[in-house]
Amino acid sequence: MVDSRAARLETRLLDMRGRAKLHKNEVAVEHVPKSLTGALEFDRIFSRLAPVEIDLGCGDGTFLTAMAQENPAHNFLGIERLLGRVRSVCRKVARLDLKNARVLRMESSYAVTNLLPAGSVTAFHLLFPDPWPKRRHHRRRAFNHEFLFSIHRALIAGGLFHVATDHTDYFQQIEKVIAEIDIFAISREQNNFPSTTFEQKFTAGGLSIHRLLLRKVSPVK
Ligand SMILES: C[S@@+](CC[C@H](N)C(=O)[O-])C[C@H]1O[C@@H](n2cnc3c(N)ncnc32)[C@H](O)[C@@H]1O
Repeated sequence: MVDSRAARLETRLLDMRGRAKLHKNEVAVEHVPKSLTGALEFDRIFSRLAPVEIDLGCGDGTFLTAMAQENPAHNFLGIERLLGRVRSVCRKVARLDLKNARVLRMESSYAVTNLLPAGSVTAFHLLFPDPWPKRRHHRRRAFNHEFLFSIHRALIAGGLFHVATDHTDYFQQIEKVIAEIDIFAISREQNNFPSTTFEQKFTAGGLSIHRLLLRKVSPVK
């Protein structure tokens, strides 16, 4: 009796979160934090300790799952705010049976600023963030001074911040913020990253891609 009430309550909670259409193994791909203020515990999320890479605004999880397959010794966390895309990630990760990929449904700058322990992340990927092209919307862009300081704090020494966009005006803003803060070095290393879903669309449409690899170089004063 108590068990069936608990099961009904769980189903209602799943419905409220919009996850009921997923199978149990797909639901398990989403990490739902117990607290919105406590630091994420990566060893619990992935059931092992390994370098962590985070894909901010991971979309449908194409890049996340490709990276997780190519780098089995690393753990990959996607952060995405849209429910439908989180579901796509859950399905992809479960279908590929990847133990080193998980997704968090959250606003990414909140998660980076408030939930990531200092010096805990090996690499961040910010790939094709929403460009907010109208001037009056520029303040909604993810990449700003505060965000860059939060990324810096969460990275390990020498950690990598990988940024790509098709949007030239946004890219110029990104370069300006990096130059003004001067806590990252632009890395010359070659990386053959898998392409993302949006990247595939943009390159198919003939757009060129701006990409930066940044290395954390100095402590924040
Ligand atoms: C243009 S899409 C790029 C998706 C993916 N990175 C790719 O390249 O295919 C931007 C993604 O970031 C997500 N997003 C935008 N702002 C976000 C935020 N503040 N927190 C979390 N996700 C966000 C959007 O929902 C969307 O999935």
